[in-house]
Amino acid sequence: MKNSSIRVFDDLSGLVRRDINPYLLKLEEAREKKMPIVFGPSLKDKKGKWLDYIRKDKKSPQPSKLIVEIGVHMGQVFCQLAKDHPNWGFVGLDITFKRVYSTCEKLVKNKIVNAVSVLADASYLEEIFSINEIDGVIIFFPDPWDKKRRQTKNRLINNDFCKTMSRLIKPGGFFWMKTDSQNYFLEVSNLIGSISDFKKSNHSDIGKDYPSIFQTRFQEKNIGFYNCIWVK
Ligand SMILES: C[S@@+](CC[C@H](N)C(=O)[O-])C[C@H]1O[C@@H](n2cnc3c(N)ncnc32)[C@H](O)[C@@H]1O
Repeated sequence: MKNSSIRVFDDLSGLVRRDINPYLLKLEEAREKKMPIVFGPSLKDKKGKWLDYIRKDKKSPQPSKLIVEIGVHMGQVFCQLAKDHPNWGFVGLDITFKRVYSTCEKLVKNKIVNAVSVLADASYLEEIFSINEIDGVIIFFPDPWDKKRRQTKNRLINNDFCKTMSRLIKPGGFFWMKTDSQNYFLEVSNLIGSISDFKKSNHSDIGKDYPSIFQTRFQEKNIGFYNCIWVK
């Protein structure tokens, strides 16, 4: 998925060699087994309908909020969030086949039914979700692309992405970011600050902190990080 020639709705079966990335087969098997995983063309019809899709049993009430975590890694925070908020629906995005599969496996292992693991590049967010569909976006430790000045163009959270979030997040919803990169944090603060409908806040509806793998790694090395919530 890191291959930029692959677009989010592409059918991966003809584009990715199974001998090179064995996780494609695992993703396909997981989908056949109806595990909570979505990728490729089947992402298309979920836009605007995620909560309905997550509610497997149509007799049960629809989840009341839709939370999207971007860059779920191996799903540690994602699974805990979904477990702690059984009446909400969760969509977890990552671009790495192995991480998307592992997150899906964890959901099944922990019998978490209100969440789905999605293989998608979050720069396609507007193609995956509709306007005002999302109650909260969580991005913990996005790749900072800090080493060389010219790499900053690779950052996910840029001006266009912030504008997209302001369209997709409903009024009262939130964007929660953590990063160890001062430079990235200041840039995002400025961008979000310039969008008048977001205000800095001390808390989200989530209610408590969820230390991620990267957060723990930095804390073990006594490296500080920025932690900020903006509410729309
Ligand atoms: C530095 S890791 C942080 C992982 C986790 N959030 C944490 O805090 O421990 C960044 C994660 O974002 C994923 N990622 C990077 N670019 C992405 C994109 N454009 N869309 C979705 N996921 C992305 C990576 O595969 C990786 O799992």
